[in-house]
Amino acid sequence: MSPLELLAIAVWVMLPAYVPNNAAVLAGGGRPIDGGRTLGDTRILGDGKTWRGTILGTLVGVALAYLLNLLRPTVVSFLGIGFPVFPLAVMIALPLGAMLGDIVASFLKRRMGRKRGAALPGLDQLDFAVVALALSAAVAPGWFLSVFTVGLLVVILVVTPILHVVTNVLAYLFGLKHEPW
Ligand code: CTP
Ligand code: MG
Repeated sequence: MSPLELLAIAVWVMLPAYVPNNAAVLAGGGRPIDGGRTLGDTRILGDGKTWRGTILGTLVGVALAYLLNLLRPTVVSFLGIGFPVFPLAVMIALPLGAMLGDIVASFLKRRMGRKRGAALPGLDQLDFAVVALALSAAVAPGWFLSVFTVGLLVVILVVTPILHVVTNVLAYLFGLKHEPW
């Protein structure tokens, strides 16, 4: 498989995990998941993790996976690249895992004394991808092993931080986010 094909497949399979966090930025607000509660004297998660952002972000990711499944036959015959079909469990696991990964990262950041919006380079760029992949592997192990070769995983681990940085800087420049990370 050519490097370009590998890159295209990496982006295709990860799109349902990439988009939820961006959708949450647009949809966020309202009641925080932790309900304002603290652990010690710091918030459990903080105001940046809301029910609305999490639920709508996940739904947008599921809808995107569904759309990619619909478009797949046309795109495959047009480009000749073997994009995989998302089974239902994975259509949910990718976006839900992405949102959970981001929530776990906020939990860890608060425990480390970092305020809402503080950056944690490395974790910020990969948390969502790692948990999205882990949850997908847990709910659909056969599918996961048939799709994710070591090469594809390496491409994903390289491409994800780059895309994350680029989209967040753009969201910041367009005034959608308070911080460029
Ligand atoms: N958001 C949300 N619910 C989520 C994730 C994000 O409502 N589960 C919204 C919030 O409005 C949040 C914004 O998207 O402020 C940006 O997300 P993110 O950068 O993940 O949150 P931060 O505000 O930076 O907070 P944290 O330090 O906890 O990451
Ligand atoms: Mg943030």
